Amino acid sequence: MRDEFDTTIVQFDEETGIGHLTLNRPDALNALSDQLRKDIVGGLRRLEAENDADDGVVLRAVIIEGADGNFCAGADITEFSGDAAGARSDREHYEFISDFPVPVIAKIRGYCLGGGFETAMSCDFRFAHEDARFGLPEVDLGIIPGAGGAQFISRLNNPSVAMEIAMTGDHISAERASELELVNRVYGDDLDGATREFAETIASKPPLAVQAIKDSARAATEVGLAEGRKYDRRLVEPLFATEDFEKGARAFAEDDYEPEFEGR
Ligand code: COA
Repeated sequence: MRDEFDTTIVQFDEETGIGHLTLNRPDALNALSDQLRKDIVGGLRRLEAENDADDGVVLRAVIIEGADGNFCAGADITEFSGDAAGARSDREHYEFISDFPVPVIAKIRGYCLGGGFETAMSCDFRFAHEDARFGLPEVDLGIIPGAGGAQFISRLNNPSVAMEIAMTGDHISAERASELELVNRVYGDDLDGATREFAETIASKPPLAVQAIKDSARAATEVGLAEGRKYDRRLVEPLFATEDFEKGARAFAEDDYEPEFEGR
């Protein structure tokens, strides 16, 4: 399946269960216009619509990237109106990605700034090319990264690092972002292959267990450990009743049984 929205390209590979969403405003370095933000949500909804375990088609992972060598240069400055209500409405795609049930991988080349960096940090994984440049330049416009930029960095690393990046507005390299644990992996020319291989590995696992792990790990940043353990018990119990659990248990017992997990 391949769908063109105004500013995104959405592809889905039924064989692997991997969805692909490309931000496609290369002339503006894929800056987040209102249309692009809507199309990110529309594109993810389109991918969700493919998910039908009873039909044997399961969405298992999504890769988000930018067209033509840049991830995204942040909010589209030409659309800034100074209207606070407008600024609020631009948060939707960030939350949609964070709350999206299947794992989302940001594959990052070139500029990844402001709202682009916040989009990447809303994803579950960040795989970067060594040429990628990260930053939160909003301070130079007299505003802050209002979709959680400093919040995300404070959780991924610490508040002092978040302030260093957000108060200076300086760009940092992929290598530095990796040292700071803001990206998972850095690659050279093998970025595409390595990202695809990682997505395929996740996609080969039991999808409901993968989704529950995302749910658990996301909850860990919100609740204390005691509450988190209770949360995990609620997540694990229904998994024991799935066909995929039976298949996994059988594969453990029988050497020559290769399970195909189907999200049921
Ligand atoms: N919003 C709208 N348009 C943007 C944009 C943004 N955030 N970032 C880049 N563009 C546009 C430029 O206006 C330019 O358009 P043009 O060719 O019609 O003039 C095009 O993308 C290429 O950008 P340009 O500035 O010429 O490229 P560069 O390589 O010299 O610089 C950046 C790249 C990313 C350093 C620079 O574009 C920049 O600082 N962008 C703003 C980043 C930002 O502040 N983001 C946070 C916004 S809250």
